[in-house]
Amino acid sequence: MARTDGYVVFVRGAVPGDRVRARMTKSKRSFGEAEAVELLEPSPERVEPALPHPGAPWQVLPYERQLQEKESQVRDALTRLGGFEEPPVEAIVPAVDVLRYRNKVEYSFGEDDDGELVLGFHRPGRWDLIDDVSMDALASERVDELREAVKAWCRAEGLSAYDRREHTGLLRNLVVREGRRTGALQARLVTSPGDLRIAELAEGLAADSVLWTRAPGVAENTREGQTTLLKGAEALEEELSGLRFRISPEAFFQTNTEMAERLYASAVELAGLTGRERVLDLYCGIGTIALRLALDAGEVFGVEIVERAVADAIENAKLNGIDNAHFFAGDVRTAMRPLVEESGPPDIVVVDPPRAGLSQKVVRRVLEAEARRIVYVSCNPTTLAPNARQMVEGGYELRTVRPVDMFPQTPHIEAVALLERLP
Ligand SMILES: C[S@@+](CC[C@H](N)C(=O)[O-])C[C@H]1O[C@@H](n2cnc3c(N)ncnc32)[C@H](O)[C@@H]1O
Repeated sequence: MARTDGYVVFVRGAVPGDRVRARMTKSKRSFGEAEAVELLEPSPERVEPALPHPGAPWQVLPYERQLQEKESQVRDALTRLGGFEEPPVEAIVPAVDVLRYRNKVEYSFGEDDDGELVLGFHRPGRWDLIDDVSMDALASERVDELREAVKAWCRAEGLSAYDRREHTGLLRNLVVREGRRTGALQARLVTSPGDLRIAELAEGLAADSVLWTRAPGVAENTREGQTTLLKGAEALEEELSGLRFRISPEAFFQTNTEMAERLYASAVELAGLTGRERVLDLYCGIGTIALRLALDAGEVFGVEIVERAVADAIENAKLNGIDNAHFFAGDVRTAMRPLVEESGPPDIVVVDPPRAGLSQKVVRRVLEAEARRIVYVSCNPTTLAPNARQMVEGGYELRTVRPVDMFPQTPHIEAVALLERLP
């Protein structure tokens, strides 16, 4: 984060303490975004990355420094974008593992300068170039082995990578998910429609389940296309907060299992449950927070837009013998009012929205529910801050904000906030 005459600019490709030449990519009224194009003077704090990784640019900062920076960015966002003079930010909760912590990775196929098939990550800022990876600093060794086996098999078969410019070629992505507690490993190969001896690949892989997604030329992400199950079960099993979860390939699941558990424990603690409360969990995914809350609450109602995730949540409730949690598919914007009418007014509302945060309309719906407490799980302090301000203007007090480091070596910041309704 850089400042020019009080104007704040978030600079991609630089670390605190660097002097860089940067190109502005976005300028909003309250802050701007830029991309570093030249490193003029490196930060004296820079260290050698353990394993170069385009998704882990903060490896050049010592971990302690990363934590400080994240904590101060949360404080800064609340001050600048939320107008909180002295925001009640707690000390950041450090990560258990600072490397190899991810339970999900998406690799892309491409070709190198010699035309050889590669499997790795997009070069930063390039949608058309893929750099090969042989060791992934953020995934486990088992994931490394699986990716290398897929790459070797595809090379031996002489298969081509999908060309993002020409829309030719076959292989697009490899998505790997790992149950860190259950040991379950799942591979999903994403290709264009076409032929390959996929049954042989599936058979030979050391994965508990293998899926094949055939995506049309225009597909923009790995969630599009038709998926076939080739081996094992479609849903991956994982353990979290002492509960068992089944996760469908389309469903969101926090990518750091160990830290998700700590994040949810914070949400439960801040909710301050006594066993009688009616709780609404908005943006509930497969029910990870809702089911944990259900153990200590009277009744929990979850809302989520992805239907498969809701089906998972319902099944997860059964799997864990929990009968006081109910899940509904719908858009929070329109589903909230009818739900509150049916369930009755909530004592506590938990929200865990995507990066864009809550729209004005959703904030209004949350405020009109008049819950005693709002627990806000946020993956983006720059949207948490204005949302918290709107809630304060709607009669709440911002009691505490606890940053939790879910994504070491990256600039991403997660935090849980508690807002309490003033009498
Ligand atoms: C950050 S995730 C949180 C999921 C869950 N609480 C967890 O921790 O696993 C946000 C979730 O919101 C869902 N979502 C996005 N927009 C939504 C909307 N308008 N209404 C309901 N759910 C939505 C996404 O599908 C995703 O599951």
